[in-house]
Amino acid sequence: MRLLVLGGTRFLGRAIVDEAISRGYDVTTFARGLSGHPRPGAEVLQGDRTSFPDLLQLAERDWDAVIDTSTIAPVHVAACAQLLAGHVGHYTYVSTISVYRDYPAAPVTEASAVHDCPADAAGTVESLGYPQLKSGCERAVQEAMPGRSLIARPGLILGPHENVGRLPWWLSRVARGGPMIAPGSPDAPLRLTDARDLAAWLTGNTRRGIPGIVNVPGAAGTTFGDLLATCAEVTAPQRTADLELRWTADPVLLAAGVEPWMELPMWAPGIPELAATWQVSGDRALRTGIRYRPLLDTVSDTWHWMLQDAASQNRPVSEFARLPGIGLDADREQEILASL
Ligand SMILES: NC(=O)c1ccc[n+]([C@@H]2O[C@H](COP(=O)([O-])OP(=O)(O)OC[C@H]3O[C@@H](n4cnc5c(N)ncnc54)[C@H](OP(=O)(O)O)[C@@H]3O)[C@@H](O)[C@H]2O)c1
Repeated sequence: MRLLVLGGTRFLGRAIVDEAISRGYDVTTFARGLSGHPRPGAEVLQGDRTSFPDLLQLAERDWDAVIDTSTIAPVHVAACAQLLAGHVGHYTYVSTISVYRDYPAAPVTEASAVHDCPADAAGTVESLGYPQLKSGCERAVQEAMPGRSLIARPGLILGPHENVGRLPWWLSRVARGGPMIAPGSPDAPLRLTDARDLAAWLTGNTRRGIPGIVNVPGAAGTTFGDLLATCAEVTAPQRTADLELRWTADPVLLAAGVEPWMELPMWAPGIPELAATWQVSGDRALRTGIRYRPLLDTVSDTWHWMLQDAASQNRPVSEFARLPGIGLDADREQEILASL
């Protein structure tokens, strides 16, 4: 099995490459060499997908399948899909559940309406909007390879090498201990997919060539209470002060100006705009073979990756990299706690 991974050097793409190599696939990756590192065992092509001369490295080569994890403009995804259409059997595009027009205010299935964006749109996440950009990329792939493409729409992706910093922030906060804001209610639902499980499902699908659209919203049945209890369990050996979770009602946090989803990562308070955050149909993913590992494995493996990474760079695990806006400032948290 010859697999081309567009990206393949960070988080999900990295997990896809590792999974495919462990299955004995011949793997080629294509990336600029800026944000990640090539994986051992993969053939490395270096280039920028926004540069047509760079893209020509892919011309006249044959692969059985391609998996594309990119977040670049539809026009570039279209160029790539058109170039590859005669040379690959199947094209998987990793999109997002954010493409649904009414998400996260209303429940969605694969048949729900998506944001409108032309397949040749140019621009960036900032100029087009993330849901629109991803929706345009979906269309570009579907138009270039009708009946031979899979559009995967994941929800929240976590696990080792996460590059957003959501679970790393919770883990380092819980490891610090002391009185700590826990958002909303311990019974509030939470659905997540480990990048390695998504990678296994995506990689397996390339052999079967499943076409169409599939949501991957994560396993049902997990709660925010489960997440924080599991973070507490795995960080216990490193904790420096006793941990005291203070469950704080959604309206209190909203009144204090805490930003849902970002400042307290993955917190989706009970407001109309976010009412259906966790109500995404995932039946098709289950029928086509997704298997979600236990929460403990994701949390524990992420923590051990963080510890190793911090040790290798000789810095405290609390100083873990995360995207701007992710995580509540420690002083602000104490101010809010003092006001309760
Ligand atoms: N995180 C979540 O919770 C979540 C939820 C739903 C969906 N998703 C989707 O899941 C995917 C995550 O994939 P990931 O972790 O592999 O993505 P990523 O972190 O965005 O990595 C992008 C990959 O593409 C390469 N790349 C970026 N720009 C490029 C360019 N101009 N030319 C060539 N290569 C380029 C990068 O390497 P270089 O920088 O070295 O080029 C890297 O290997 C994304 O599509 C995201 O939208 C994520």
